[in-house]
Amino acid sequence: MKLFRGTFLDTPDDPFAGGALRSEEDGGVLVDDGGTITARGAFSALAPAHPDIEVVDLRGGLVLPGFVDTHVHYPQLRCIGALGMPLLDWLEGCALPEEARLADPAYAGELARAFVGALAHAGTTTALVFGAHYLDATEMLFAEADRVGLRITSGLVVSDRELRADLLTTPTRAYDESLILAKRWHGVRRSRYAVIPRFSLSCTPELLDACAALLTDLPGSMFTSHVNENPAEVARVRQLDPEASSYVDSYARHGLLGPEAILAHDVHPTADELSVLAAAGSAIAHCPTSNLTLGSGLFPLRAHLDAGVRVALGSDVGAGTGLCLFKEGLQAFFVQQALGADGVRLTPAHLLHLATTAGAAALGLSSTIGSFTEGKQYDALWLRPEADSPLDILLRTAASPDDALAKAFAHGTSTDVAQVWVAGEVVG
Ligand code: GUN
Ligand code: ZN
Repeated sequence: MKLFRGTFLDTPDDPFAGGALRSEEDGGVLVDDGGTITARGAFSALAPAHPDIEVVDLRGGLVLPGFVDTHVHYPQLRCIGALGMPLLDWLEGCALPEEARLADPAYAGELARAFVGALAHAGTTTALVFGAHYLDATEMLFAEADRVGLRITSGLVVSDRELRADLLTTPTRAYDESLILAKRWHGVRRSRYAVIPRFSLSCTPELLDACAALLTDLPGSMFTSHVNENPAEVARVRQLDPEASSYVDSYARHGLLGPEAILAHDVHPTADELSVLAAAGSAIAHCPTSNLTLGSGLFPLRAHLDAGVRVALGSDVGAGTGLCLFKEGLQAFFVQQALGADGVRLTPAHLLHLATTAGAAALGLSSTIGSFTEGKQYDALWLRPEADSPLDILLRTAASPDDALAKAFAHGTSTDVAQVWVAGEVVG
């Protein structure tokens, strides 16, 4: 048992449904040896009942639930910073040549270590990760995440058309290799399997059928892909799949959309597509820095909320500009501001919700992670900037917990994350 002491902020009640930020200044969170939170409240109320317990003193700074990144590409860590190309040019000229390098297991192993380390350093404790197009490289990601202790849902990325030849597979091989990986990792400790066709643009109907078979054959697995990111991409999908009534339908008609599906971007949806997503209970990973880097557009959050489509945050590294969800939250805020009257006024509590509880819900992990509620696992990050740094001064002089959280999103980076826990144990 441990008693964590500090200022805890979380969002157990959805701010989009009227919930407020929950804060406990000089709070205590009691965690058992299995990493489960057994009590929370004022430190002064909890401490007397546990006189001999190990106290982890996190006073100064803020303790937040570990971030949940619902869309990130492990092979693209070294692609960050290719600014200014539209999606299809960026894929061909930047991302896909780098992804092809993961055919070399030595290169992939090095990248897996760097990626998992950087994810933990950013305060991300749970992530839905695009693996590689290669079995060995994807295996290395699972192995490294398992070694470090992060909660990873990932899988082999599959494609069988339109991309460079060395990234292509066949429906049979995609099914077989995915099953090999899933048998090794799905449901093993903190790892789960995700079925990942790269996007319907690069997948024949036969490959999408193989993906549907995998989803059926792997109970509890997730589904993820991309949708409606860029107008040229949307037009190409229409050309390639004339039988699908829309980009969303290119997945739905293969039975791929349900509550276990998370699609990235959705910057250019139609009203019909939003209805289909809402009825399916599928979620969207909103990736603001990526959408702005590639000029994909301003995310219509209002339309998603009005339609009842679930939304969480994704870094989308390497089109996104970094792994830390403080930056994605801030950029999500900026995008809604830029939309003026069409935008949603996002408060700091909305941003924390999008980066934690919304991601946990999208990944079907609400009962396990996302807030400091009793019964959940203690996954947390300690935002503890260097003494007398600008952020330290901002946090010390904040007018309220909401104000402190706004300052954390405005100024916080991975460098300010001093320590990270999964299930009560330090990671990274
Ligand atoms: N669509 C298909 N692949 C990708 C990718 O790697 N990044 C982004 N942003 N969009 C994609
Ligand atoms: Zn992506």
